[in-house]
Amino acid sequence: MLAFEQYTPTKVVFGKDTELQTGKLVKEFGGTRVFVVYGGGSVVRSGLLDRVMKQLEEEGIACMASGGVKPNPTLAKAKEMIKEAIEFGADFVLAVGGGSAIDTGKAVAHGTANPDKDFWDLWLKKIPLTKSLPIGCVLTLSATGTEMSDSAVLTNEETHYKKGISTPFNRPAFSIMNPELTYTLPDYQVRCGIVDIMMHTLDRYFCGKAGIGNELTDQIAESVLRTTIAAGKVAAKNKCDYDAMSELMWCGSISHNGLTGLGGIRDFSVHGLGHPLSAWFDTAHGASLSVMWGWFAEYVWQENPSRFARYARNVWGIDEADDEKAALAGIKATVDYFKELDMPTCFTEANIPVQDEEMLGKLADNPTAKGTATLGSFKKLTKDEVIEIYKMANH
Ligand code: NZQ
Ligand code: ZN
Repeated sequence: MLAFEQYTPTKVVFGKDTELQTGKLVKEFGGTRVFVVYGGGSVVRSGLLDRVMKQLEEEGIACMASGGVKPNPTLAKAKEMIKEAIEFGADFVLAVGGGSAIDTGKAVAHGTANPDKDFWDLWLKKIPLTKSLPIGCVLTLSATGTEMSDSAVLTNEETHYKKGISTPFNRPAFSIMNPELTYTLPDYQVRCGIVDIMMHTLDRYFCGKAGIGNELTDQIAESVLRTTIAAGKVAAKNKCDYDAMSELMWCGSISHNGLTGLGGIRDFSVHGLGHPLSAWFDTAHGASLSVMWGWFAEYVWQENPSRFARYARNVWGIDEADDEKAALAGIKATVDYFKELDMPTCFTEANIPVQDEEMLGKLADNPTAKGTATLGSFKKLTKDEVIEIYKMANH
């Protein structure tokens, strides 16, 4: 097991009606002027935003709500909200919604606490981030794990660069998780979420040190995957099944709070391959991952067939003694599951227009820093290899 640090300070408040504790929790974490971030309006239509604002008002907390964050949230919107939050004098950020609203909330917290610094330079870590405001969230979509994660992702629309920042300041002070709040989701978003939850563990499980002395982490990872797959099958048919939606919600948090990769090496190749698709074509995050995983796996599995064989046996129950056959069966089972969820597994299915070689090169620039870095650790992928994987997906 490699050395690691694990710091997950988020207070999780899980269960029915937990959003009614919002005011109390903001107070507990010292918020007196709260800037509330939300998305395109689902929380207005569901009445959730009203309930949350009422909670804050009842606790005598000054608050200002600001919406309009879109999926694949942008740098421009984050900057606009930072300006509003500074003018309001916010000392706490509350995000109500899915990953896009919460990630923008994290951005607002960082930008508001550092009004004299260039925000994008902070995001790119050209300037160190040394302080932020506390953030709380009310989660409405089980997918990204941002409710406990140390990361947040924005897209610079001008440069088509989708970029995440990892920092302990991204860990929320609290997260309210009521699975019933996900019942209003569009079916497609439920299914995107299932893929994303799986991928946060898969992108850790297939890493450079895979299969070498990390048994507890591996077994936690396999359990999260099995549970997500089983609950996902139920949720894809009935998003109002409380048990299935609860499992997905908690799997989403565990899958991306660090636990399923402790003691391993960071990989995140499939996220790296998926982000440019969102940045250039606004592909939903989960769909960008279902498009790329199978081709990534097909390209890299021979680096460590026994790792893929273990995955096939322990996650998919594949009874095959030969490692190579088991590995391929596990890859097929995963891609078949994405198809069963009606998620895209190639560019055409995701409505990504067929690209010429030049465009594939632009996509590959993002995860390889224009060819100056490699992607991932399971197999360190050069820019040319990334282009090869995009070519495999491009039909
Ligand atoms: O914007 P509203 O109107 O709220 O509608 C949203 C949006 O259209 C809707 N929605 C969310 N909850 C709903 C709902 N509609 C009805 N009822 C509800 N309960 O769903 C749509 C998608 O929402 P979004 O927040 O974009 O989805 P998701 O949670 O998948 O977030 C995706 C973003 O998070 C990033 C992704 O890259 C993407 O930008 N990620 C963040 C991570 C992190 N911070 O740790 C890790 C992930 O790997 C990921 O990169
Ligand atoms: Zn993800």
